[in-house]
Amino acid sequence: MDITLESPLDMHLHLREGDMLDLTVPLSADHFAGAVIMPNLVVPVDSLDYLLNYRQAIEFYCTGKNFRPYMTLFFKNYSRQELEESREQILGIKLYPAGITTQSEAGVSDFSAIEETLSLMQELKIPLLVHGETNGFVLDRESEFLDVYRSLANRFSELHIIMEHITTADAVELLDEFANLSATVTLHHLMITLDDVLGDLLRPDLFCKPVAKTPRDRSALREAVFGGHPQIMFGSDSAPHPRHKKECIGCAAGVFSAPVALPLLAQIFEDAGCLDRLQDFISTNACRRYRITPSEKTVVLSPTAWQVPDYYGDVSPFFAGQTIRWSVNSTISAK
Ligand code: DOR
Ligand code: ZN
Repeated sequence: MDITLESPLDMHLHLREGDMLDLTVPLSADHFAGAVIMPNLVVPVDSLDYLLNYRQAIEFYCTGKNFRPYMTLFFKNYSRQELEESREQILGIKLYPAGITTQSEAGVSDFSAIEETLSLMQELKIPLLVHGETNGFVLDRESEFLDVYRSLANRFSELHIIMEHITTADAVELLDEFANLSATVTLHHLMITLDDVLGDLLRPDLFCKPVAKTPRDRSALREAVFGGHPQIMFGSDSAPHPRHKKECIGCAAGVFSAPVALPLLAQIFEDAGCLDRLQDFISTNACRRYRITPSEKTVVLSPTAWQVPDYYGDVSPFFAGQTIRWSVNSTISAK
């Protein structure tokens, strides 16, 4: 029996820039109806002109594939005019604490200095996407950041705040406290724990931010996702880095999961006996939470096993060399 998914969406995706787009864009556009594009380029995407140029560069590589890049601006203090001009062109604004992850040096270092922009975003109904980590001990960073989410969600109760790539049981619990909080969950955080990253030989391909956590945390994520939590959406956080940036001293953070995301999600939802919940996780929840209507694109997965290649271009994917039971068979777009 095939699996049919309507307009699958990846609500957190790094496509990079320049030549890398030739590799990354078609891989996502072949499987998804749209994706939320992260703005942490070498120079952060922090103006409308820059964002429109970046979108055009992406669109060049997905012509005819019925794939919509939902663009995000890199958070800084924006004026009312800038936000009003941008709002129709963006899905939201992505906030990085300064220096917390790849290319986030220009992020926020003083959370007390961003109130005005947040009020404007609330007023203009522009969602706030957040990389929620402190610079504390690596395993505690997400839990320590939850107080920031609490405070933001309380003070800006009409602002839609998305806790990106949550990895902990604590973060899952926080969703119950605030109706204006949503979360994305990645494929890899549903599958691995810190043991997979460094319990045996060190695995640069599995090193990412936030780092994978404990078995208890992973169980909480699985329970929430497989249980159909209505505030949780799929966001791959697929983040490609070329081999020389992974296999070196100072390994870059990021798991490149885009090419395997749909087939592996099918596999783990099937293993959990909840394939009927995949549509909500992969699209319906995001459409409801963000109030978006993606274009119609039906993706059919068939139970045909395939072996994941060791590399796509110069980038090693998640699950490289391993076999996945499901493959994307066809996509049909509405005329
Ligand atoms: O692992 C990660 N890689 N986490 C992030 O937050 C950023 C991303 C990247 O841009 O490589
Ligand atoms: Zn990311």
